[in-house]
Amino acid sequence: MAQDDYGRGAPLSYNRYLRVRELIALQECLSTPPHHDELLFIITHQTYELWFKQILHEIDASIAYMDEMRVVPATRALERVVEIEKLLLAQLHILETMTPFNFLEFRDRLKPASGFQSMQFREIEFVSGLKDEGLLASFGDDELAVTRLRARLGAPTLGEAFFALLKRRGFDAPEDDPTLPPEERRGRYERRVRALVELLSHHERFAPEFHLAEKLIEHDEYFQLWRAHHVRMVERMVGTKRGTGGSEGVRYLRTTLDQKFIPELWEARTHLELGHGEPD
Ligand code: HEM
Repeated sequence: MAQDDYGRGAPLSYNRYLRVRELIALQECLSTPPHHDELLFIITHQTYELWFKQILHEIDASIAYMDEMRVVPATRALERVVEIEKLLLAQLHILETMTPFNFLEFRDRLKPASGFQSMQFREIEFVSGLKDEGLLASFGDDELAVTRLRARLGAPTLGEAFFALLKRRGFDAPEDDPTLPPEERRGRYERRVRALVELLSHHERFAPEFHLAEKLIEHDEYFQLWRAHHVRMVERMVGTKRGTGGSEGVRYLRTTLDQKFIPELWEARTHLELGHGEPD
């Protein structure tokens, strides 16, 4: 659209700056005549994708700050991620105002598309630590998605940036190396867990790093809460029907619930004990 469509020669306006005209033209219902609830369905998913874009922006910034050893801005970027995730969780309730019957009235039109193919959702998973090359197959010849996901597969994760930072701060937190034998990788994993026990035990002495670790586990926690709420909502909406993407629906989604971005952060809690090390 030419700039002039917002008013020839007019000064910058709210609508021109935010491209509102284009934005509100992006909701194309597939049902004919358009089903009343399909607009809600599209807007809900589109707002998710906008927030996913912001989440990736903040996670990338957080990793860059960690590389520069700037713990405070790295933590603040993740704080924003977590606040967005709280909103994304609450947003599911709006979709739950749709009745199962009303959803059925346009659901078949969506096949074989599915949230399973959300490129940015997979990018968040990959950069947060859950890389899975096998998922690229679900994007077929979607070149943009495959290119972006390949780039994420080859880039450092939040956990890698975090442990590299701890290492440079003097903690015994060796990086993972998939080329090593399994027992050596396990040994390194356990050393990272012990480094976190140290951090949690001395949370006042290492306050900035501790706050960063807390935001990382909160990001993990809110993502898991979203998965749990999503699967409940799906069951409430379509029971155990197969997904529009062809998976086993709720049965498949249940298998994703226990995935953790940085398992060391969770395991450290199990090993934390009173009287560990010197008091702060
Ligand atoms: C009526 C509402 C919804 C229903 C019934 C629903 C249903 C499903 C089902 C059955 C799957 C499994 C894959 C498949 O075979 O299709 C799935 C996956 C997924 N959905 Fe939804 N969904 C809904 C809303 C949403 C919303 C609002 C989002 C936000 C982006 C979303 C994002 C996802 C994602 C990211 C996956 C992949 C999860 C994974 O593989 O771990 N869904 N959904």
